[in-house]
Amino acid sequence: MCGIVGYIGPKNAYDVVLKGLQRLEYRGYDSAGIALYNNDKLKICKTKGKVSELLSKCESEKITNGHIGIGHTRWATHGEPNDVNSHPHVSNSGDLVIIHNGIIENYESLKQELTNRGYTFESDTDTEVLINLIEDVKNKENVKLGKAVQVALNQVVGAYAISVFDRNKPNEIVVARLGSPLAIGVGEDEYFIASDASPFIEFTNKSIYLEDGEMAVVRLGRKVKVREIKNDKLVKPYVQELQLSLDQIEKAGYDHFMLKEIYEQPEAIKDTYRGRMLPEKGLIRMSGVDDNIEKFLNAKRIIVIACGTSWHAGLVSEYLFEDFARIPVEVEYASEFRYRNPIINEDDVVIAISQSGETADTMAAIKIAKEKGAFVFGVCNVVGSSISRETHAGAYTHAGPEIGVASTKAFTTQITILTLIALKLGKQKGEISNSQFHAYLNELNTIPEKIERTLETNEEVIKVAEAYKNAKNCLYLGRGHNFPVALEGALKLKEISYIHAEGYPAAEMKHGPIALIDEMMPVVVIATKKGHYEKVVSNIQEIKSRKGKIIAVVTEGDTSVKQMADHILEVPDTIEEFTPLLTTIPLQLLSYHIAVMLDKNVDQPRNLAKSVTVE
Ligand code: F6R
Repeated sequence: MCGIVGYIGPKNAYDVVLKGLQRLEYRGYDSAGIALYNNDKLKICKTKGKVSELLSKCESEKITNGHIGIGHTRWATHGEPNDVNSHPHVSNSGDLVIIHNGIIENYESLKQELTNRGYTFESDTDTEVLINLIEDVKNKENVKLGKAVQVALNQVVGAYAISVFDRNKPNEIVVARLGSPLAIGVGEDEYFIASDASPFIEFTNKSIYLEDGEMAVVRLGRKVKVREIKNDKLVKPYVQELQLSLDQIEKAGYDHFMLKEIYEQPEAIKDTYRGRMLPEKGLIRMSGVDDNIEKFLNAKRIIVIACGTSWHAGLVSEYLFEDFARIPVEVEYASEFRYRNPIINEDDVVIAISQSGETADTMAAIKIAKEKGAFVFGVCNVVGSSISRETHAGAYTHAGPEIGVASTKAFTTQITILTLIALKLGKQKGEISNSQFHAYLNELNTIPEKIERTLETNEEVIKVAEAYKNAKNCLYLGRGHNFPVALEGALKLKEISYIHAEGYPAAEMKHGPIALIDEMMPVVVIATKKGHYEKVVSNIQEIKSRKGKIIAVVTEGDTSVKQMADHILEVPDTIEEFTPLLTTIPLQLLSYHIAVMLDKNVDQPRNLAKSVTVE
């Protein structure tokens, strides 16, 4: 939620910050703004809308130069998206400027106190309250900016990643984080600040990731000073060497990041299991699991916590852990888990799944699980993310950066990791024989190539998209391992095409949703040859006799469903447990093509953001 960028150094801060904001636009795109300091003047340009609109405005107002600058792309929390509520925000004196990602929960009481002391506010934002609080502290206590930020933040309840600049001190930016990510790129005689490393990766691969509750003074010509906000303790910053490359975050000839990421899945899945799955040796090794193997083997229950698509991956894993390892699983929305009084026993293992590793609800749920004594294992994509650091152990999915807001390769790589863990535990618990284990590994090894074959059905998917692009509603049905895929297919369609869609276990249809079926209703049914094939075929007949339009995802060569369905989309044969890795693909493509045909913004759907750092 919201992207922040900053720069101090010899380059033109305008170029660095603007480009950085474009890379971070997936984090929010309601409005954007920049503050630049040049020749003793501080200039601000901000606007409702996307970074491209900010660029036009800056060019027309000639605000395009500076050696120090901070910029923001917003996903609104307090106050509607408009020019005034856009960041940066300036203090009453006009000296201090701030950009902020997060929420200040006690902003109303702080605003009241500041109003009583004569402060005025232009915007409806919590951020403007924070910058005036910092100014108030600075003046009252006659301290430097860094100290003022620290004292002010100790009065704040909420979440933040902030960059603050004082025009009387044009060689430093003060940054701080709690609950929202913040990275400092360390270059030669220059510093970068950003919500993630993508804005500065072309300039430096050295980065300091602030930990929660830390702040830093980033001053030109001096090493970065990091300290704990609460205890005022200096912390030695850890400068990390990043593996990310510029290619990984560019579109590489695809029209959209989402399409690129759909097509990256065969490679992404190989990257997920590379070095971990050794079919020739009949071995799965994963240090996060190996180091804690007793906890996993003794687990009486696995509790999975996640949100959105990651929650769907969690649901897929419920079938995997129960089938392969015979461990009972509960899959919980992190947002519900955190506000219940969940019962956690010592022999429970909690698995938290998150692509971004920054989702506020998942983070809060992890903290609660830890407080209750649980061992928490993280499955994250973003290396160094908050969740990957908060969990006791974990495994990265190694899917590479996912920029499209609708999650695709993160989902299939999460399922891959969870499959590896389930297989490993199944084998070690004696639930899977050696020969079965070998067979599973060999089959998993064929999945990337089978996804490639599935991607070749793209032309068929385009025909289906053409036929149903004007539908108002759509139903997705699946059973067993493919029930979560139905949920995920429906989520993908609604989030990028804005067509109402619902996912259901196929057998639940007759307990309600069947009432919706008529000749206008497309029903996507996952009907692969294994599992509950005959049962799903009966469900298809029920839809057919009510004149619903059937789009069936079937196993290559299927003939029975073909006779009944209006359209079929084929996937190669595999074992039942691995079908979600294949059946997901045509559903991703279908929602992608419908959204493109409807001229929607595929990579940045309205009201959404890639990384949900507010609850
Ligand atoms: C949907 C989507 C979201 C995320 C959810 C959790 O396409 O991307 O539903 O899955 O916001 O995000 P992470 O996985 O980053 O915790």
